[in-house]
Amino acid sequence: PVLVVDFGAQYAQLIARRVREAGVYSEIVPHTATAAEIAAKEPVGIILSGGPSSVYEPGAPTLDVGVFDLGVPTLGICYGFQVMAQALGGEVANTGLREYGATDATIVTDSVLLSGQPVEQNVWMSHGDLVSQAPAGFDVLARTGATPVAAFASDSRKMYGVQWHPEVKHSDYGQSVLENFLHDAAGIPADWNSGNVIAEQVERIRAQIGHARVISALSGGVDSAVSTALVHKAVGDQLTAIFVDHGLLRKGEREQVENDYVASTGVRLITIDAREQFLNALAGVSDPEQKRKIIGREFIRSFEAAERDLVAEAKADGEPIRFLVQGTLYPDVVESGGGTGAANIKSHHNVGGLPEDLQFELVEPLRTLFKDEVRQIGRDLGLPEAIVGRQPFPGPGLGIRIVGEVTADRLEILRDADAIARAELSAAGLDNEIWQCPVVLLADVRSVGVQGDGRTYGHPIVLRPVSSEDAMTADWTRLPYDVLSKISNRITNEVRDINRVVLDVTSKPPGTIEWE
Ligand code: XMP
Repeated sequence: PVLVVDFGAQYAQLIARRVREAGVYSEIVPHTATAAEIAAKEPVGIILSGGPSSVYEPGAPTLDVGVFDLGVPTLGICYGFQVMAQALGGEVANTGLREYGATDATIVTDSVLLSGQPVEQNVWMSHGDLVSQAPAGFDVLARTGATPVAAFASDSRKMYGVQWHPEVKHSDYGQSVLENFLHDAAGIPADWNSGNVIAEQVERIRAQIGHARVISALSGGVDSAVSTALVHKAVGDQLTAIFVDHGLLRKGEREQVENDYVASTGVRLITIDAREQFLNALAGVSDPEQKRKIIGREFIRSFEAAERDLVAEAKADGEPIRFLVQGTLYPDVVESGGGTGAANIKSHHNVGGLPEDLQFELVEPLRTLFKDEVRQIGRDLGLPEAIVGRQPFPGPGLGIRIVGEVTADRLEILRDADAIARAELSAAGLDNEIWQCPVVLLADVRSVGVQGDGRTYGHPIVLRPVSSEDAMTADWTRLPYDVLSKISNRITNEVRDINRVVLDVTSKPPGTIEWE
């Protein structure tokens, strides 16, 4: 792999993703990894990520300098560039000057790293210190108004560095910097693609599962759909998928799973119809956290009931169920400190909470993948676009999109409004502009309206379209007025009891994406 050394800021994941976009497999390691640990992973390239603003800050993260003697082509970025400069005998100065945001950089020397790029370019900076002198034997490749050494290289040592952030889209030729480093400087071919991943994972899954049986919980979401399809490709009918219909799904989602998903994969599916059970358990409850707890608990109950039956059947059969599929993604692994394969990995519950004490070994075929890679694999496996391209949808479903008590009637109303909003957003070609668009029913609010000749006293529907990279922060999406107008007209005309549609124009923070 190419190893991305994480200095603690949020840049490492983005770099790892961009490296994969360049067709090269990447993994993230913490900066505390020793040179020996890094060497053991047999890296074909190393990239040092950005980090805090100064190498002189107390407690600033460091790197085992032995890493620079491994003979592995290395690229330092921002903080990683400064760490590299310092370790190799250059100078890092704390001038008190800061460069932040869009900055003009000028190429001063031809190089492999910046080849094919214009002499003047727009780069994204975020640093306090600067490299005032490159290490001996290094060529200075670029400068900016404030930074005399904005990029350097030693072709003989295969060491490269840039002060700016090539991984962010605001750096005009950022991806070109990464690709030049990977393909031309380090000589790494672009041969990582979803086809290879599928073949490799199928082999691994077969080796792990053998002849035993395996179960999977399908939620209708992308991760569980793709992980289940991959395991099915590997072991066929040794797999049974369980789908709990808790009645909090959106319009058409159950049919999507039962018909389209099954038709495209051939997965053996058991649907548990638990709609009544969930409604009864939620009766009279308005508090969001209470709702979440109840939904999680009931989910476990229905899943366990299905699982008990299957386990008994499989035992009678002679091939017990020993494995459970989980749609854990690479960001979950990294965020739980598992970048080095550590043991303290949070178990990731894609669905709404699986029992903690399940006696199964986990099968996690997506553990090394990012979301966009998972979607591509889903497409390659022939899954319906409606599932593969699906927006994130919370495990508790529409249960946390009704502000107030959840009832069958209110669910019906919300489902209709949500279906209209989704259809119009898709028809306007906006699916890729928005990260997700919760549609929320303010069931405890009533307002006066006029429809036809009469006064109405109905409920408002909130549209919450957001743009985001990872749901940690978000901005409200500036949807075209004509699309908003169409959604509003249709919802107020077609959905009973709704006489008002309002738009949420709050970013996150301070607002969360969901209303509950
Ligand atoms: P918030 O509302 O916290 O949402 O800004 C961030 C992302 O998480 C989703 N979300 C949930 N997902 N169970 C889930 O599986 C939950 O209880 C839950 N609450 C929020 C939300 O849809 C958004 O993508």
